[in-house]
Amino acid sequence: MIVQKLHLRSIEERWRAIKKAGWNTFLLPTSHIFLDMLTDSGTNAMSNQQLAAMMQADEAYAGSQSFSRLEKVIQDFFGMPLFLPVHQGRAAEHVLAEAFIKPGDVIPMNFHFTTTRAHIERRGARVEELIVDEVFSVKSKDPFKGNIDTQKLEQLIKEVGSDRIPFVRMEVTTNLTGGQPVSLENIRAVSQIVRKHGLMMVIDACLIAENAWFIQQREPGMAKHSLSEIIRLMVEEADLVYFSARKLGAVRGGGIVTARQDLFDQMKDLIPLFEGFFTYGGMSTREIEALAVGLKEFTDETVVSQMPEFIEFMVSELDKAKIPVVTPAGALGVHLDAKNFLAHVPQEQYPAGALVTALFLISGVRGMERGTISMDRDPETGAEMLAELEFVRLAMPRRVFTLSQVMFVTDRLKWLFDNRELIGGLKFVDEPKVLRFFAGRLKPIGNWDKQLVEKFKQDFGDSL
Ligand code: F0G
Repeated sequence: MIVQKLHLRSIEERWRAIKKAGWNTFLLPTSHIFLDMLTDSGTNAMSNQQLAAMMQADEAYAGSQSFSRLEKVIQDFFGMPLFLPVHQGRAAEHVLAEAFIKPGDVIPMNFHFTTTRAHIERRGARVEELIVDEVFSVKSKDPFKGNIDTQKLEQLIKEVGSDRIPFVRMEVTTNLTGGQPVSLENIRAVSQIVRKHGLMMVIDACLIAENAWFIQQREPGMAKHSLSEIIRLMVEEADLVYFSARKLGAVRGGGIVTARQDLFDQMKDLIPLFEGFFTYGGMSTREIEALAVGLKEFTDETVVSQMPEFIEFMVSELDKAKIPVVTPAGALGVHLDAKNFLAHVPQEQYPAGALVTALFLISGVRGMERGTISMDRDPETGAEMLAELEFVRLAMPRRVFTLSQVMFVTDRLKWLFDNRELIGGLKFVDEPKVLRFFAGRLKPIGNWDKQLVEKFKQDFGDSL
């Protein structure tokens, strides 16, 4: 068993820390964080079996037996024979962009992810989001808000022509829309259109295990299938699958998998160039061993269900308290709807950025802004691109939190919601051009931080 000491600092210390971090939760040190809900990427707890497997790592530059063990597990998990290791998910995106995308291309997808879009735009191509409109109803009962609208896909192919579409990308589940799953029915329908036009289908499989779990729970007729079977049925529809093992498998690494030799050959030479030799791809052999075990664990329903069930619990508690939160509950984390939570803060003043820093200030809980700050400006005009979905994400890393910790966050959020009128907006002080949310520095507009701290002290005293 491994445990870690957590620090619940005083509000004065947290206030100093967030000022020093430029009101950007990415720049906070964990020494000042009580519960870290920034991401589920690389922060999941490993199992005792994974830790044990790390001891048998075969440290070889080439031909490591650790890699052979992983390759077999990958083939079994995805049902595809060809595997290229990479150091994390965006490295796979880099390889895909280099191998398949040229200037002027269009990449249709359900929804973008930050690093995906940056890699596509870096190649002079553009993203087209074709997700179902229902996703913009933050409160909804639609079980598969991650689906692609197949009519929009047909229309887009007609407009731009299949020559300019190197592949269609499906992200399962869709990260930036609140971890919303895609149905097997939709994957099949999209795949049919893709085949009809002679295109290629790519699945971003970072959360494929959780998506399979939602299919098993929510899709008619699917309850009788195991997660492993459902994953195979999803992947069967794709030409190529890539993943971040920081999420899938609970280690640090990633991979690209395919059954098509021609695609494999187009990518192969890029691995030793950008990542490392074919039998490690930037991963340590210890992580490779842990991933081989982790992937098997990610077909076990008792392992996979933990994250979505904790999220469901927290979403229903918040919903009962009338706090604006994305429904139905998805994977990855709880998503607060900052546009409604802080309806008085204009979107140009980054309500999600303000909310995530206010939550840290009053609780020590670190979330992530997933709204306008996470969108970069238009690369051509420099105009601000207001996000359609303005969320604060509170990630639920796998096997990390207890339910009482989840209840602490819920409780603090109720207090924050009652005092939401005190919170104001933010503005940039230092704004990077690409992926500005990582390193950008901001500051509060006015002195709302002072007012919030004072109210907190009135209600809770100095010590919290
Ligand atoms: N694709 C999706 C859907 C992702 O969620 C991520 C990462 C990546 C690709 C890139 O993978 O981080 O290993 O390079 N998402 C993390 C997050 C960063 O916090 O949601 P990576």
